[in-house]
Amino acid sequence: MKMLRHARQAATLAAATMLVIGGAAGCAKEDTGGTTESGVTLIKAGALTTCTHLPYAPFQSKDQTGKVVGFDVALIDLVAAKLGVTQEIVDTPFEGIKSGADLNSGKCDVAAAGMTITDERKKVLDFSEPYFDATQALATQTGKEVKTLEELVGKRLGVQGGTTGEEYINGQVKEKSLDIKVVSYRDLAALQQALATNQIEGAVNDLPVWNEYIKANPGKVVVAAGFDTGEQYGFAVKKGNAQLLKTVNEAIAAARADGTYDKIYAQWIGEKPVG
Ligand code: ARG
Repeated sequence: MKMLRHARQAATLAAATMLVIGGAAGCAKEDTGGTTESGVTLIKAGALTTCTHLPYAPFQSKDQTGKVVGFDVALIDLVAAKLGVTQEIVDTPFEGIKSGADLNSGKCDVAAAGMTITDERKKVLDFSEPYFDATQALATQTGKEVKTLEELVGKRLGVQGGTTGEEYINGQVKEKSLDIKVVSYRDLAALQQALATNQIEGAVNDLPVWNEYIKANPGKVVVAAGFDTGEQYGFAVKKGNAQLLKTVNEAIAAARADGTYDKIYAQWIGEKPVG
């Protein structure tokens, strides 16, 4: 081990070593990346690079101007500010996010995708403290409401590929031996499009995204039933990236403490549920 002149260098080297140990393409990362004042190593100097999977309003979606905005974006902006850099968002399929592949390969520093913390994902990702509570919900077209999955026997039910909603529905269908045709869509937009055009009788996804969709398309779709899966969202970093994880957790904690979290919640989600 060569002599290190100051801590900044030490941190850079430690992170570069971690990349190599992690088996990722760690070379060149040291040249193109950057280390912030607080000793956090980033894949690109001056930026906090975020992987997400669009669209997933109100957590992340493009506004009129094409800018990616939302609840998660606002929270990660706080992390970026704490690091003295700006957030850059990479849109990439959910599979690579939840499997850890994107973080491991150095595509991004952090994943923010309305992603539920699960034991399986914890094996391949390091999650922040939970920052949002969610449940699953069944949406149907207005006037075609069903209250139970049993009523969907013989029909097509849409889910989003790779998500906890898909897993929950597949579990229920199996457990209750329901003859429902579960159809998987690659993203939320495709799922919502399928529901709107009658390709499917109902669609399951996280409740807040249906609430948002109904706000944007009043009268067309309703939340017909809810499934209390008790999910919690977490931001994720590459396994072992303790420095960045600490900064993420500190930024969330500070936002909760000083009212910023509530403001962001009110802006993107709406009124906070009691209890
Ligand atoms: N909360 C669900 C899950 O973690 C869905 C997340 C989908 N997010 C997205 N940005 N496409 O499986």
